[in-house]
Amino acid sequence: MSKRQGPVIFSDIEPYAGLKSAVKMGESKIILDLVAKSNLRGRGGAGFPTGLKWKLVFDTQADKKFVICNADEGEPGTFKDRVLLSEYAKLVFEGMAIAGLAIGANAGFMYLRAEYKSLLPLIEKVLTDMRADGALGKNIMGKEGFDFDVEIRLGAGAYICGEETALIESLEGNRGEPRNRPPFPVNTGFEGYPTTVNNVETFAIIPHILTKGAEWFKDIGTEKSSGAKVISVSGDCENKGVYEIPYGTSLNEILKMTGTSSAKAIQVGGASGVCVPKEDFTRKIAFEDLSTGGSIIVLGEKVNLMDMVENFLEFFKEESCGQCTPCREGIPVFLEAVKSIKDEKCTKEYLQDILSLAETMQCSSKCGLGQSVPNAFVSVIEKFKNEYKLSKKIKEEKVFNG
Ligand SMILES: Cc1cc2nc3c(=O)[nH]c(=O)nc-3n(C[C@H](O)[C@H](O)[C@H](O)COP(=O)(O)O)c2cc1C
Ligand code: SF4
Repeated sequence: MSKRQGPVIFSDIEPYAGLKSAVKMGESKIILDLVAKSNLRGRGGAGFPTGLKWKLVFDTQADKKFVICNADEGEPGTFKDRVLLSEYAKLVFEGMAIAGLAIGANAGFMYLRAEYKSLLPLIEKVLTDMRADGALGKNIMGKEGFDFDVEIRLGAGAYICGEETALIESLEGNRGEPRNRPPFPVNTGFEGYPTTVNNVETFAIIPHILTKGAEWFKDIGTEKSSGAKVISVSGDCENKGVYEIPYGTSLNEILKMTGTSSAKAIQVGGASGVCVPKEDFTRKIAFEDLSTGGSIIVLGEKVNLMDMVENFLEFFKEESCGQCTPCREGIPVFLEAVKSIKDEKCTKEYLQDILSLAETMQCSSKCGLGQSVPNAFVSVIEKFKNEYKLSKKIKEEKVFNG
């Protein structure tokens, strides 16, 4: 598997340099300001500004606060956190400890995807080494009162537990189902205490920002998307693997980087993402254009896109927690629609009903899972009109504007 040298996480840094800088800065406010100035946005998918999230927790009055690392990576086509945990776990824990110092938390959890259990001995060893180095535990890096430690807890194999409130429920020993929001975890998180939940990659970036500065970070990427993104590239491409690319990198450049000469389409963002046709490969990975948690699936000429959509829908049917009606009842309806398109039985009225259901699901599902279920279907319907066999009637009526 390929791994390309990148400008942020994959760039050089001295061990514990971030923690040492944080301790030198001393005060929470200075660290919070620096992280906010860097414009770092969460790498777990939603892109919430990290500095603001930490400040919201810092501003709360509570006896306890918590730091949680979301290592539940389960989006189809995403495996970048597995690589980061295998090779950069120290950097991730360093980022968590810095978060602890910044928000005033003494305890952290890493919620590790059940399927990554094999990484457990390696990660536990990193924790043991860090305690021995004075980088975790009491009086970290010699700073009186800077106490922070991390406990690893394993998930049980549910995709929905990557959603932060379902994750917290699961951490508390409950069934992993999303909570109503508000209140948000920054106010009412683990066991009701203010909590920051961040992605593995977000934490791994923090020591670099603490050491190299906000301006250094902002110089990488685009105006609205600072820094770089670690992506997992898979599918019909030459050099599958994990790459760190500056925000603003186009899909064409990604294909070139992986030595892939052609593709019919690229699925950006996994099952919950969108399918991009080759005429749009000039589009860029950035929050303002194609936002992704890290999954890039290259689709060759032979891929049947309706089969792919069906596969994603089967995945969602399996993984939906079933708590709310639009998601629970909507997914089977989408599966029916795919079947009718494949059987050339889809009518204009039926398709319009399905597209209207897509809007309903996007705005009324309780969490991101249900909200993103229609994405792949809608993007294939809109962008690949010639890809699937429609009933003659639909073709003649030009339902799809072309
Ligand atoms: C169904 C679903 C699955 C998710 N899975 C993950 C995941 O595996 N890892 C992750 O970091 N965020 C995941 N998220 C996003 C989290 O809810 C949350 O936004 C993120 O952990 C915040 O971290 P960040 O601010 O560093 O991005 C998921 C969201 C949804 C709706
Ligand atoms: S949208 Fe789906 S996964 Fe999310 S709460 Fe509703 S039923 Fe559960």
